[in-house]
Amino acid sequence: MKPATPFATFASDLARESGAHLMSYLSDAAPEKDIRLKGPTDVVTRADHEVEALIAGRIREAFPGHGLLAEEGTLLKGDEYRWVVDPLDGTANFAHGVPWFAVSIALEHRGEVVLGVVQHPSLEETFVAERGGGAWLSTRDGPFLRLAVSAAATLQASLLATGFAGGQLSARDAALVPRFVRAARGVRNLGSAAIHLGYVAAGRIDAYWEPALHAWDIAAGVLLVEEAGGRVTDMDGTPLRSGDVLASNGRIHAAMLEVIASEGPRSGRGAR
Ligand code: IPD
Ligand code: CA
Ligand code: CA
Repeated sequence: MKPATPFATFASDLARESGAHLMSYLSDAAPEKDIRLKGPTDVVTRADHEVEALIAGRIREAFPGHGLLAEEGTLLKGDEYRWVVDPLDGTANFAHGVPWFAVSIALEHRGEVVLGVVQHPSLEETFVAERGGGAWLSTRDGPFLRLAVSAAATLQASLLATGFAGGQLSARDAALVPRFVRAARGVRNLGSAAIHLGYVAAGRIDAYWEPALHAWDIAAGVLLVEEAGGRVTDMDGTPLRSGDVLASNGRIHAAMLEVIASEGPRSGRGAR
């Protein structure tokens, strides 16, 4: 079933509008990005706040009773529905003019994610999933395409992705990178958790792992992977809880877990 419910249409339109706003910062007459430090290596820009305000305003207007959790601090209390939003996932890329970043919008109903939209504005790709309705990709003016995870069955035949949360990466998690580089066809860091998850759903990437992510980074993308037939767990193989995420096509999940376990037992959130 194509994602045509009112919530899916609302969130897809809003993600596209947000993405277009982000792209205006990459044009010739681009406004000043006003890049500020959030931590020693972590940046935020004017656009992160503008898009968050745009999304919060539209949600308040359309669904006054709904809650909202968004990365830059907007918190609305609400009824059984709550939106979980990363207005700009891939801020480091954006700040440096690398056109690989996303808008991530998810909707929870009584704590369960029921809708996920990841918008990749520079390619005008919209990844949409509704629980039970499959995962879909729409491109500019194009039809909706049903997404399915890849068929890769070995690490040797797999293209993997990961992300590094700057100075927060533990020595043990850093050690996983060369292990996977040696085991797989390639390891990419495209700079956006939401895009990585959308790409696992689309079968472009066979597995993605990253420790210490937040709800807004992954809420939409996890549903995309699950609805595309993939598997998402914590990096120790238990049900996803900690933010240390392993998402795969399912077929190489055990092999990924085996490599991760070779660096020792884990207890969540990028734990050493
Ligand atoms: C970051 C991106 C990046 C990942 C970081 C995230 P932000 O989100 O998803 O790919 O490696 O862990 O924090 O800060 O650009 O929204
Ligand atoms: Ca993010
Ligand atoms: Ca962000």
